[in-house]
Amino acid sequence: MSSTPPKPTVSPLKASTETVTSVHNWTDKLFSFRTTRPAGYQFTPGQFARLGVTVGEETLWRAYSVTSAATENELEYFLVQVPGGLFTEQLKHLKPGDPVLVEKFSYGFMTADRFVDGDDLWMLATGTGLGPFISILQDPMVWQKFRNLILVHCVRNAEELAYQDLLSTLPLRPELAAGGARLQLIRATTRDAKAVAGDLQGRITTLLTSGALEAAAGLPITVEASRVMMCGNPEMITETREILHQRGLRPCRRAVPGQFVTEDYW
Ligand SMILES: Cc1cc2nc3c(=O)[nH]c(=O)nc-3n(C[C@H](O)[C@H](O)[C@H](O)COP(=O)(O)OP(=O)(O)OC[C@H]3O[C@@H](n4cnc5c(N)ncnc54)[C@H](O)[C@@H]3O)c2cc1C
Ligand SMILES: NC(=O)c1ccc[n+]([C@@H]2O[C@H](COP(=O)([O-])OP(=O)(O)OC[C@H]3O[C@@H](n4cnc5c(N)ncnc54)[C@H](OP(=O)(O)O)[C@@H]3O)[C@@H](O)[C@H]2O)c1
Repeated sequence: MSSTPPKPTVSPLKASTETVTSVHNWTDKLFSFRTTRPAGYQFTPGQFARLGVTVGEETLWRAYSVTSAATENELEYFLVQVPGGLFTEQLKHLKPGDPVLVEKFSYGFMTADRFVDGDDLWMLATGTGLGPFISILQDPMVWQKFRNLILVHCVRNAEELAYQDLLSTLPLRPELAAGGARLQLIRATTRDAKAVAGDLQGRITTLLTSGALEAAAGLPITVEASRVMMCGNPEMITETREILHQRGLRPCRRAVPGQFVTEDYW
């Protein structure tokens, strides 16, 4: 009798094999890649996909926010190479033509449609937590729904401030500009001695507590006007939730409208 174990297969009902179409390296640790989009794949900007790579007999699965617009033919993701990370180590030499498994369904509740009201949408991101906001900010609905869009991206070093070209040209897109919102891009670094003029220095939590973030935006954070999305480092999210809670803001619950939604990456 043969002792060869059966080859594992992933049900086509669960996932489809897609093809990497491009890879972009932002730094030696940060990269984006695009894949073909599974037939019929639906997602709301802010949601994440579950991606799989096969290693030997095993398939590893991880969650990745979709950064591409909902209308694009391809899906894009923004990743950090975690030192010794099981999944991201497999992606070190990713190149166009490689296969990647994509689960059929999209997931996640950090979407702008969770807010029933509000004037100002604050998007607070650390590191790769920027990803979902790249998709959200390409959604014309968001530009119609809010008066102010404030994206805050906090990273260790300025070289990690990815997607700057795309972000700075969003207001030039007619379908977004038609919505009438004003976009503000606020960048912050925490370990860069020579931050670019105009960038803030310090963690999102520190900048919130000191009032520097609101001063930079020229907008106060209030229960009435502000709706907040937070994504990335889970400790940043826990601490920011506490700060917002003290100021009267509450999380959105299934049946109860609130003022903030979150997505922890680990
Ligand atoms: C809902 C959701 C969405 C996610 N979206 C993204 C995304 O868009 N881009 C992305 O790079 N990762 C994202 N992640 C994290 C991703 O799923 C993996 O955990 C990550 O790529 C590490 O996998 P790994 O097997 O290489 O490392 P593991 O061996 O699983 O190591 C995990 C450790 O790496 C660190 N880590 C994991 N992810 C990050 C991160 N993004 N930034 C900083 N440190 C991290 C943490 O210390 C964590 O404990 C998301 C996670 C969740 C739950
Ligand atoms: N980015 C790099 O150059 C680098 C280098 C070596 C290894 N790594 C590894 O790569 C992974 C990802 O690193 P990353 O830099 O993308 O993500 P990260 O460690 O989550 O840091 C991103 C930003 O979040 C801030 N932050 C961390 N904890 C916070 C908190 N509790 N409240 C508010 N802000 C907080 C960081 O500030 P602080 O700087 O103050 O922590 C930093 O500005 C990690 O596993 C890391 O060990 C990264």
